[in-house]
Amino acid sequence: MREWFSGECATRGLDLIEDRMGNQWAWWGDPDSSASGGVATGSHLDSVPDGGGFDGPLGVVSGLLAIDRLRSDGFTPRRPIGVVNFVDEEGARFGVSCAGSRMITGVLSAERARALRDADGVTMAKAMRAAGREPERLGPDPEALARVGSFIELHVEQGRGLADLARAVGVGSGIWAHGRWRIKIPGEANHAGTTRLSDRRDAVIGCARAVLAARTAAEAHGTLATVGKISIQPGGVNAIASSATAWLDARAAGEAALHATLAQIEAEVGSSGAVVTEESWTPQTAFDDALVRRLAGLLDGAPVMSTGAGHDAGILANAGVPAAMIFVRNPTGASHTPAEWAEPEDCLAGVDALATVLADLAGAEQ
Ligand code: GLV
Ligand code: MN
Ligand code: MN
Repeated sequence: MREWFSGECATRGLDLIEDRMGNQWAWWGDPDSSASGGVATGSHLDSVPDGGGFDGPLGVVSGLLAIDRLRSDGFTPRRPIGVVNFVDEEGARFGVSCAGSRMITGVLSAERARALRDADGVTMAKAMRAAGREPERLGPDPEALARVGSFIELHVEQGRGLADLARAVGVGSGIWAHGRWRIKIPGEANHAGTTRLSDRRDAVIGCARAVLAARTAAEAHGTLATVGKISIQPGGVNAIASSATAWLDARAAGEAALHATLAQIEAEVGSSGAVVTEESWTPQTAFDDALVRRLAGLLDGAPVMSTGAGHDAGILANAGVPAAMIFVRNPTGASHTPAEWAEPEDCLAGVDALATVLADLAGAEQ
């Protein structure tokens, strides 16, 4: 994917800069030439296990196509325009979402990132080295961030809001609070055929309790809580599990409800000796209000909506970068599944919308 991206950028004569996390920034115009920074767009090319084709790639591809559109229209930007491919947005392997943008903004430390482990115990440092990358380079990158005067991320909608409103594109106004936690549940290995039920300390039973506790807490507090990944040790069909790990993802429109959800889950699973460790936390995020209104105005009064899905645009917004999003209609609302979809004409409407916004932001004197 990285090679594909750099190839597309080379074809267009865009200058590719890799920041300290390996996020790829392709610039049209000198990104250090503008005192107020450039206008950046883009998204990510990584996905989730068995994910869809649009979450991430639509934003990257649309950024490149919007540049093509502006060029064929003869547009000359006064501020540089960039397209970014953020690495590891989903955090599918090492647990931390938006690791690429968290690293350059200093929210994720290099030491912690290098030591993150996947479900097989492989560290991020080791995985990076195996992929020919240099984990020693990791760190905050204020220089890369200073080039971003404003950031517009286009993304497939991960709900049916636009389908219900019969609109092809919308504008993102903010992102729900979101956290991820690793729940380690202890047990004791023993034989499935000879150990009396009363003598067992079965980690899978504790894991099942954790899954149900998440659902009960979410219902109680009007939030969302999901266990989508578990690992059972040692994983033998005729052995009682010695330990289990469950990964919890919880989200809410407000942070208080999210804290209450977690406290309830922790109280429930803590009684069986489980240890809950935070993997990532993203506060409730409001995008730049003036930018959101500007986009909605430029896009024919496009509907303005918040989302429960996380995005690099949110991490940049929390780091002080004026940011906003453009959503493209998803007829079923399905996401993180191969069923994720956007009709080609809606994708092209997204490119049009993005080109309009980039032209406005990059063409105007700041
Ligand atoms: C990213 O897609 C997330 O919201 O988990
Ligand atoms: Mn996603
Ligand atoms: Mn995404």
